[in-house]
Amino acid sequence: MNVLDLCGGIGVLGRAFELEGFDVMAAWELDDKRASCYEQNTDATCNVADVTDLDAADLAAYSPPNQTVVIGGIPCQTYSQANNNAEHDTSLRDAVLDLVDAYDPAATALENVMLGWQGIDNVTKVRDCDVGGYTIRERGFKGLHNPPPRTHGDPGQARLDGQRLEPINGWAEALPGDENLMADFQQQAAYRDRNRLPVLPGHEPGYTLTSKSVNGFLLWDEANRSSIRWLDTDDMARLHGMDPDKWTFPETKTATAAAIGDSVPLAMGRAVARQLRRQIPTLELTDG
Ligand SMILES: C[S@@+](CC[C@H](N)C(=O)[O-])C[C@H]1O[C@@H](n2cnc3c(N)ncnc32)[C@H](O)[C@@H]1O
Repeated sequence: MNVLDLCGGIGVLGRAFELEGFDVMAAWELDDKRASCYEQNTDATCNVADVTDLDAADLAAYSPPNQTVVIGGIPCQTYSQANNNAEHDTSLRDAVLDLVDAYDPAATALENVMLGWQGIDNVTKVRDCDVGGYTIRERGFKGLHNPPPRTHGDPGQARLDGQRLEPINGWAEALPGDENLMADFQQQAAYRDRNRLPVLPGHEPGYTLTSKSVNGFLLWDEANRSSIRWLDTDDMARLHGMDPDKWTFPETKTATAAAIGDSVPLAMGRAVARQLRRQIPTLELTDG
């Protein structure tokens, strides 16, 4: 089954689909540096283009709709700062949905923050650490009929089938040291004023990464406080399931942090791809 990726970023979601046996035929991405990373990180072509300029024929040029899953991360900047009262601009989201409707593919898995899907039906929430990832990031996927089965999560909570879940796959597994703590400086100044920082021990899933995580999270080792340091972009990559030596990122640290913060963690993307295979049993896949 073919995949087309709208707003592809550096290709983490696209690569996740490839690893699950889908053929990513093409992607579209506005930022040329991200598009170039996309082509390094996947086997697909990534067009530098504004998706609002596309029509169904542009997608059909790469793959017939009835043999295609359309995936993509709809940019969500106006939603991501937890400003629930702000006026949200849904024009880009709605343009993407109109484009996908006109193309009429076999399936979709379009990703956004849950708030970004307000007013839209058939959105399924997926949490990274429930499906083998290292963070608590959750995202809504439009087109996924059911959430992927949980493979990880709160070990005290029994699954519906009576089996116990595996223990939480903590962020410390992605970073050196087991006893590390992670403090979230992104939580507003109010916390700092009260001398209270939200702190996670290493065996809990890590916080959701954003483009500002490099300056937002502090790591330290309980046993050796002299090792206090800021989270770096290699840490961010590992927390999203990527070996930093095997992936291509934009040249600057700021652009890399932004691209990783915008990406779908690899475990989440793979779980979504596997769930689509369950949803459409007739999908024809190559070996991943
Ligand atoms: C949420 S990120 C996608 C992340 C990607 N799925 C991944 O896992 O790496 C959204 C991307 O859309 C791009 N973008 C924003 N507006 C766009 C537009 N009008 N046309 C195409 N791409 C756009 C942004 O540059 C950003 O890389």
